[in-house]
Amino acid sequence: MDREKVRAFMEQFMGMTTSAALLAVTEVAGRTGLLATLAGQGPRALGAIAADSGLNERYLREILSALAAGGILHYDPAGETFELTGEVAACLADEKSPYFLGGWTQFVPALYRAIPGVARAMREGGGVSYAEFGSEAVEAIDRANSPGMRVLLTRKWLPTLPHLVKRLEQGARVADIGCGSGTSTLTLAKAYPRSQITGYDIDATALARGRSAAEREGLANARFEQRSAEDLPREPSFDLVTAFDVVHDLARPRVVLRRIREALASDGTFLLVEPAAGDSLAENLHPGGALLYSVSTLYCMTVSLSQGGEGLGAAYGPKRAEALCRDAGFASFRRLDVENPFNAFYEVRP
Ligand SMILES: C[S@@+](CC[C@H](N)C(=O)[O-])C[C@H]1O[C@@H](n2cnc3c(N)ncnc32)[C@H](O)[C@@H]1O
Repeated sequence: MDREKVRAFMEQFMGMTTSAALLAVTEVAGRTGLLATLAGQGPRALGAIAADSGLNERYLREILSALAAGGILHYDPAGETFELTGEVAACLADEKSPYFLGGWTQFVPALYRAIPGVARAMREGGGVSYAEFGSEAVEAIDRANSPGMRVLLTRKWLPTLPHLVKRLEQGARVADIGCGSGTSTLTLAKAYPRSQITGYDIDATALARGRSAAEREGLANARFEQRSAEDLPREPSFDLVTAFDVVHDLARPRVVLRRIREALASDGTFLLVEPAAGDSLAENLHPGGALLYSVSTLYCMTVSLSQGGEGLGAAYGPKRAEALCRDAGFASFRRLDVENPFNAFYEVRP
């Protein structure tokens, strides 16, 4: 046994443990409003933070120390002050910021709660269902995906398809399948008031979030329907079908892709957005791959298997995506030139 290698792995593992523990206290700091209290305040002493936040001072001292030691807060030993810098506040304290990452501190604990169910399913078959994850996961996915979506969808992603933007501006019929809490549906509806956008999902909790946001924002051209993408209406046909981070979660992705092909106008577009990954494990041997395979094991694949599904898994690449689309009858498949570390974008046409 090479002791140096043991020591190196121990260091790697304890780094993972530290990150997991820090993620949990960051979630507590977010939930209690501590991060929002600190945002924009500059350096603050413990007593002042307790007065501002109304939180228990003993807990505060411990959690502020954890966040300072973990590099999330800046600690000044001279004045014994804690500061949340503007840059970190943009990532953790401002839900409206395009850099907001707080959904992840909610999502990872939701994944941990699936551990017993996934372990059971590995022995006995099946999986952990959407119902078992509950509303916590729905909210977390929305909070993790929406910040980028709100800004990038119309500013960076769609402009790679000028013909489509023109059609949306003129007024198009759009289906956003697996819309979840509806941020993509509402972003499209807001940007293209002449278009009619329908968000389809099987999850009533997610759809209720979308409906109330549409009402709040007064978006009459957005609607939500509880319906499986397997039963997407064929008539009248759609000019655009979008699927943001959905296909790999589906029980029967091949059935849905075939249905999308049938529901699209002959000159329509299917915008397929999936996690960015390579087609082989060898291509995915990096931290992003580790995250994808882990989330896939604990969520994406298991929800599909819980429905007797295919369990496609979240980590697959352009070759697999193209084969799936061509099998479903699509003639044209093109990866779009969108720079994005998390997702791959495909223009798929009949
Ligand atoms: C990972 S979430 C993505 C949600 C949203 N598009 C986003 O980007 O945040 C996948 C969504 O697909 C939905 N879904 C799963 N199977 C479905 C089906 N057969 N038909 C429609 N939606 C489905 C789930 O309920 C969930 O909301």
